[in-house]
Amino acid sequence: MPVIAFANSKGGSGKTTTALLLACHLARSRRVTIIDGDPRQPITSWAGKEGHVPENLTVIGKITEDNVQQIIEDAAVKDPFVIVDLEGTASKLMAYAIGQSDFIVIPCKEQQQDAEAAVQVIRAMQRDFKMMGRSVPFAILFTMTKWIKARASKVIVEQFKTSTIPTFNAEITDRDAFSQIFLRGGTIYDLKGTSNNLEKAVENVEQFTIELIQKIKTEARDAA
Ligand SMILES: Nc1ncnc2c1ncn2[C@@H]1O[C@H](COP(=O)(O)OP(=O)(O)OP(=O)(O)O)[C@@H](O)[C@H]1O
Ligand SMILES: [Mg+2]
Repeated sequence: MPVIAFANSKGGSGKTTTALLLACHLARSRRVTIIDGDPRQPITSWAGKEGHVPENLTVIGKITEDNVQQIIEDAAVKDPFVIVDLEGTASKLMAYAIGQSDFIVIPCKEQQQDAEAAVQVIRAMQRDFKMMGRSVPFAILFTMTKWIKARASKVIVEQFKTSTIPTFNAEITDRDAFSQIFLRGGTIYDLKGTSNNLEKAVENVEQFTIELIQKIKTEARDAA
């Protein structure tokens, strides 16, 4: 516990990248299971590359709608953190995984089509929550953000921040280090000397992790 799912049926929103960054960051000090819930198996393929997979990290692939609930349950008993990466389309597997989660991160680019898709995803999730008779806390995480923000990006972010939809203050910026890990495997901590601004990249992931854990704690306290 906790189980953290990364979901957004809009493809390419940064789910897999951010889920892996979080998992590898947490695995520096704790045991983590990352469940590769995407049929294209991007995390399994990352783990098969030559780069080093952290000792504390277990990757589980070959997930189906029949086994996802049991796999999440078993992982949550074994490890203090379970992270679930989901595919970029709405599916039964996604609904089942969400139902087993303690928090849902919705990665979203700062672009209008992505913002509209994120709102639709939230509506669909809320319908699932009604059916389940239980709601799961969630928040939008802006991903692949730029240092110099376009006006449209600022407006989109502002609209979310002034709405009732929860958002993270932390964002995951667009960084070479974050896409490099998929080239050769390994983590951003193994990139020393090959990527500029590595410290900033690590700091970025750390800020997101701290805020996520804080949100999970607050939700758990409020629910108690
Ligand atoms: N913060 C980032 N900085 C740089 N590149 C990124 C970042 N996040 C994602 N990318 C790149 O953007 C592309 C899409 O990212 P990713 O695969 O994580 O999205 P996804 O939401 O998992 O996609 P899908 O819906 O297809 O599963 C990838 O090529 C990835 O390397
Ligand atoms: Mg993905």
